[in-house]
Amino acid sequence: MLYPAVRPLLFRLEAERAHRLVFGALVACEQLLARRTRPLRAWTHPALAQELWSISFPNPVGLAAGFDKDARAPHVWPLLGFGFAELGTITAVAQPGNAPPRLFRLPRDAALINRLGFNNAGAAAVAARLAHLFHTAPPGIPIGINIGKSRVTPLDQAAGDYVSSLRHLFSFAAYVVINVSSPNTPGLRDLQAEDQLAALLDVLTTENAALAQAQQRPPRPLLIKVAPDLADDALAAVVQVARKNGAAGLVATNTTIRRDGLSTPIDEAGGLSGAPLRARATAVIRTLHRHAGAALPIIGVGGIFTAHDAYAKIRAGASLVQIYTGMIYEGPLLARRIAAGLVDLLRADGFTHLRQAVGRDA
Ligand SMILES: Cc1cc2nc3c(=O)[nH]c(=O)nc-3n(C[C@H](O)[C@H](O)[C@H](O)COP(=O)(O)O)c2cc1C
Repeated sequence: MLYPAVRPLLFRLEAERAHRLVFGALVACEQLLARRTRPLRAWTHPALAQELWSISFPNPVGLAAGFDKDARAPHVWPLLGFGFAELGTITAVAQPGNAPPRLFRLPRDAALINRLGFNNAGAAAVAARLAHLFHTAPPGIPIGINIGKSRVTPLDQAAGDYVSSLRHLFSFAAYVVINVSSPNTPGLRDLQAEDQLAALLDVLTTENAALAQAQQRPPRPLLIKVAPDLADDALAAVVQVARKNGAAGLVATNTTIRRDGLSTPIDEAGGLSGAPLRARATAVIRTLHRHAGAALPIIGVGGIFTAHDAYAKIRAGASLVQIYTGMIYEGPLLARRIAAGLVDLLRADGFTHLRQAVGRDA
């Protein structure tokens, strides 16, 4: 493999600079791939292909939100083996994010801390880009769109901000994630509280139905992305509100503000991701699945570096998984390796399909 040779060079660069460098290469690929009339077929296997929310997922390993915040490389993700990709977080108003440095590697902990703060071009600009990139053919995998609150919008006007993004991006999304769990936008995580979440979902499901009718297409499944720092009773409340107010699923989890057990002495604000998040994210998935059952399929994310990690999330209750930090440490072909590894792990447990393993450990 090439990546073990390249990684030390990338890790010598400042973290965000390394990301920009790698991303530049991916965007160059995107220019070529977007012109193809027949999109690339994603890596798939009969034991892994599944239909959720009436969407066909060729395999369950997705790109987590935050890697392609501005939707600049949507056709590249199936090439790397991903079965779906979540673009964003996108906000209604374009914003630069927090001042750098704002992304930190913790190699000894196989982790990252980021406080990027939703740097993105804004929903209108991203919609224009997607219209251009999808013009010849959309990518051959489901594309999720993750939306968040603009920093300039007061918390009590958050719903209007999310609605504006939904209007711009509805037609490009297979599913939409309502991000109420980033630690880097002041007050955002308060929107996970029962009343606030119910009100937000109410407005968004109404708008979703209106857009569906206007465009003569089905409404998009709306998923809620939750923080790993919620207590179990708060997670139970999220499930209840989600079910009652028309959400279709959950994404668990976002980054954590906790710093338990790190061996790197670091005092930087932001969200921690990667290996130290792994166990907590799995526990959150287990709790959510216990309360939600099959009613709210879960996308499991947090510290997945291997097929075993992904399989643990699935057995805890995730129907799909996503990776971000694992890819920084293990390289761009990690998704494909994990998908292939899952087939072996399922077979070893006597399952013929992924769905038989979902929630086995819950
Ligand atoms: C640099 C960075 C930026 C991120 N940006 C976003 C974001 O914009 N929206 C979001 O919902 N999650 C964002 N995340 C969180 C990831 O999607 C994921 O939930 C989290 O990192 C846990 O997965 P991991 O351990 O595989 O990285 C970001 C994570 C990282 C490391």
